[in-house]
Amino acid sequence: MIKVNFIVNNRAITLEIHPHTTLLEILSTKLSLFESKIGCGNGNCGVCSVLIDGEPVNSCQIRAIDLEGVVIETSEKIDNDYPEILKQFESFGGAQCGFCVSGFIVSAKAIIFSQKKFTEEEIRDRFSAHICQCSGNYPYIQATLFLMKNRDLLTKK
Ligand code: FES
Ligand code: FES
Repeated sequence: MIKVNFIVNNRAITLEIHPHTTLLEILSTKLSLFESKIGCGNGNCGVCSVLIDGEPVNSCQIRAIDLEGVVIETSEKIDNDYPEILKQFESFGGAQCGFCVSGFIVSAKAIIFSQKKFTEEEIRDRFSAHICQCSGNYPYIQATLFLMKNRDLLTKK
């Protein structure tokens, strides 16, 4: 067992835990955060995405031993702060069964609030880490472009 300290959604967390426990397991079993889900379990579907220090990562691939001092943001917090992201995903025809959506919310937040101005092609590349079996990735790309052009809609709640 190891002791790790980190921050999740502005909350300071200290855990005594097996070093190889995944962040995805920690979120659901220790912190009751269930929106990041298990899909492929091997880093290929993006459904378990969270932000670590502002960058999207697959939480199924991150171990407890890597968590000391990091700042994590999950889709629960992003959705609460910026509900317009999900609203626009739905308006553009994405977010149907909902399984993949939390991963896209996480990646979209990182893109929209990046210092770098992403092109459509770069968004497509970034979203290629996600798989939506209902609508494909196109609606999420278009919604993210729309939000980048209409940042005033994203006033923090
Ligand atoms: S469950 Fe983590 S990338 Fe698929
Ligand atoms: S909305 Fe169903 S998998 Fe994406």
